[in-house]
Amino acid sequence: MNNFTFYAPTLFAFGDGEEKNTGALVRRFGGSKVLLVYGGGSVKKNGAYDAVTASLNQAGLPYVELSGIQANPRSGKVYEGIELCRKEGVDFLLALGGGSVIDTAKAIGMGVGYDGDFWDFFTGKAPITTSLPVGTVLTISAAGSEGSDSCVITQEAGNLKWGCPKSDAIRPKFSILNPRYTCSLPAYQTASGAVDMLAHICERYFTNTADVALTDRLCEALMRTVVDAAPRAIANPDDYAARADLMWTGMLAHNNSCGVGRDQDWASHQMEHELSAFYDCAHGAGLAVVMPAWMEYVLPHNPMRFAQFAQCVFGCEMDFACPERTAREGVERLRAFFRALGMPTTFAEIGADPKDIPAMVAHRAEKPNGFPFGGFVKIGPDEMEAILRLAAR
Ligand code: NZQ
Ligand code: ZN
Repeated sequence: MNNFTFYAPTLFAFGDGEEKNTGALVRRFGGSKVLLVYGGGSVKKNGAYDAVTASLNQAGLPYVELSGIQANPRSGKVYEGIELCRKEGVDFLLALGGGSVIDTAKAIGMGVGYDGDFWDFFTGKAPITTSLPVGTVLTISAAGSEGSDSCVITQEAGNLKWGCPKSDAIRPKFSILNPRYTCSLPAYQTASGAVDMLAHICERYFTNTADVALTDRLCEALMRTVVDAAPRAIANPDDYAARADLMWTGMLAHNNSCGVGRDQDWASHQMEHELSAFYDCAHGAGLAVVMPAWMEYVLPHNPMRFAQFAQCVFGCEMDFACPERTAREGVERLRAFFRALGMPTTFAEIGADPKDIPAMVAHRAEKPNGFPFGGFVKIGPDEMEAILRLAAR
């Protein structure tokens, strides 16, 4: 295990009804005027908006609103939010929704006190040192942004879907996780979220660092929980126990509890960001297409690690004479699991065109230090093209 520091100071309030504490938590973390950020309306239909605004009112907290945040959030709403905060004297950002809403709030938080373009934080021109405080009320178990130190925005000028450098300054001060609100998720979004959680764990699990037995076991427990709970949540959307397991798994999958002390990979995420930039697909759906193809491509690098994944996550029997056979079975079981959830696993199913592959590789190259990426196996332009071609079969 490598040396590490782990600092993840987010307060989590978990369970049915916890959103009634929103106002008190905003006050506790120093807020006196709130920007309430939300998406396209799901929170109005499922009651989350009413519950949260009631709590703000009860705490005597004035708020202004920024709504209409799209999935794969765009820079336009970030600029709008920064202006609104300055004009209204907002000192606290409250995100009500999923990763797209939370990431928009995080990006606004970085930008309000900065003289230049908030995108400077993404290009590395300016370091992220401070932010307005962000709190979240989560309504979808997926991206893990409720506990993470990162944020992903699409800059409309250039269609660049980039993550900002990781920074503890943007970790949410608090996150309220009521699984009940996730019961209104359509099956497709529930499944996309499950894929994203699995991907967050795999990006950490496939490592070249030796002696990481504890975090391996944590990763495997989380992955088995997703494999068990996601089909139950899809079969019965009101299954509170399954929703609760998914919600806490989504947080643990990405606040780095499972990633400490080891080199991490993140190649599948880097490639998926090109898919969602080009085709605006759900992030989890893009991952369901690209991650099994990445696995097939890099499996010869360490078949034993893939065989361990197959055994410990899907219960495959170890073929000691040919561990690579077990390893390949694990990848196939993962792909079959995605299909059973109703996820796409091919380019065509997300409306992607193999003809765009060279353009995606070139687009990736525009990112500072765009190549190589990947901690398990280094991925250069040729490797990225080969993996996307596997996904496009
Ligand atoms: O806009 P509304 O109407 O709210 O609908 C949303 C949206 O269409 C809907 N939804 C959310 N909660 C719902 C609901 N529908 C019914 N009932 C509910 N309770 O779900 C759709 C997707 O929402 P979104 O916020 O986009 O989902 P997710 O949490 O998967 O976030 C995806 C974004 O997060 C980024 C992704 O790249 C993508 O842009 N990521 C952020 C990360 C981070 N900051 O740490 C890490 C991730 O790897 C990821 O890259
Ligand atoms: Zn992700």
